[in-house]
Amino acid sequence: MDWDGSRVRPRRLRTTPAVRRLVRETRLHPAQLILPVFVVENLEAPRPIGSMPGVVQHTLTSLAQTAREAVAAGIGGVMIFGVPATKDAVGSGGTDPDGILNAAVGVVREEVGDDTLVMADLCLDEFTDHGHCGVLGTDASGRTVVDNDATLERYAAMAVAQARAGAHVVGPSGMMDGQVGVVRDALDEAGHDDVIVLAYAAKYASAYYGPFREAVDSSLTGDRMSYQQDPANLRESLREVALDVEQGADIVMVKPALPYLDVLAEVAATVDVPVSAYQVSGEYAQIEAAAANGWIDRDRVVLESLTSITRAGAGSILTYYALHAARLLG
Ligand code: PBG
Repeated sequence: MDWDGSRVRPRRLRTTPAVRRLVRETRLHPAQLILPVFVVENLEAPRPIGSMPGVVQHTLTSLAQTAREAVAAGIGGVMIFGVPATKDAVGSGGTDPDGILNAAVGVVREEVGDDTLVMADLCLDEFTDHGHCGVLGTDASGRTVVDNDATLERYAAMAVAQARAGAHVVGPSGMMDGQVGVVRDALDEAGHDDVIVLAYAAKYASAYYGPFREAVDSSLTGDRMSYQQDPANLRESLREVALDVEQGADIVMVKPALPYLDVLAEVAATVDVPVSAYQVSGEYAQIEAAAANGWIDRDRVVLESLTSITRAGAGSILTYYALHAARLLG
């Protein structure tokens, strides 16, 4: 069969595993994966999260065990979320040195030393009784709003508490204006200029966070549309990312990941700092639900989704599959 261009055969480079390996453009490595973990105050035994099969709410003891597994698997780090026993209007538990998140950071740092990165989520929503990412106030027209600047003061104190507890990395995720700069200044003033700021720079008001709300026993009513980004916007992400870099962000993150690969690619092409992405709880739950029904091959979809996120431009990925994927890769 003679057809035009028959000399040119792209299939030649797909013939064997050896040649496919040679020409592969994107490679996954455990070192680029970060495991998000949940730890609950006064919990007696790890508790499964219904909407995230295979993920649990940890006790301090089971968290320490998972941290050891993270080191053994050679993953890049663990991002810790704390769920306090009591919540209040200003999220006091977040700044309390003995609060669950700071206690957990201390326990994990003690366990892993510098063998993997200890990261702390820097946000108030797990600690507030209203479930918002900041403290509430009233605007000029009498509307209840999340008070941006009052929240910044809380973030500054929280960052210092996390650094003192032993965090290598803090992850401001509340989408308040100016949060990165305020956190950077507070860390520097407290002598923690070596603590890294991983900024949740482009964070969308996403329905994909649904299962996370169960994971942190969230008490949120309403939504976060007045501070997180509209899923319809791309240009806005470039602005948010530029502002965070200007304010000293060491790494910028796009979140969620798979539904926002266009944003991720654009951000990666624009900035000169490392770029991260967060494969969020709803992305995890979708894969788990379909796999449980036998509709997709879990392991192949896990690796394909992580490969796609990497191909789009993420140098590192927060994923609940971090340990599982590291095993698949190993
Ligand atoms: C806020 C925070 C959220 C997630 C990570 N950090 C929830 C939110 O913004 O509503 C979601 C992560 C996930 O869905 O896996 N502290």
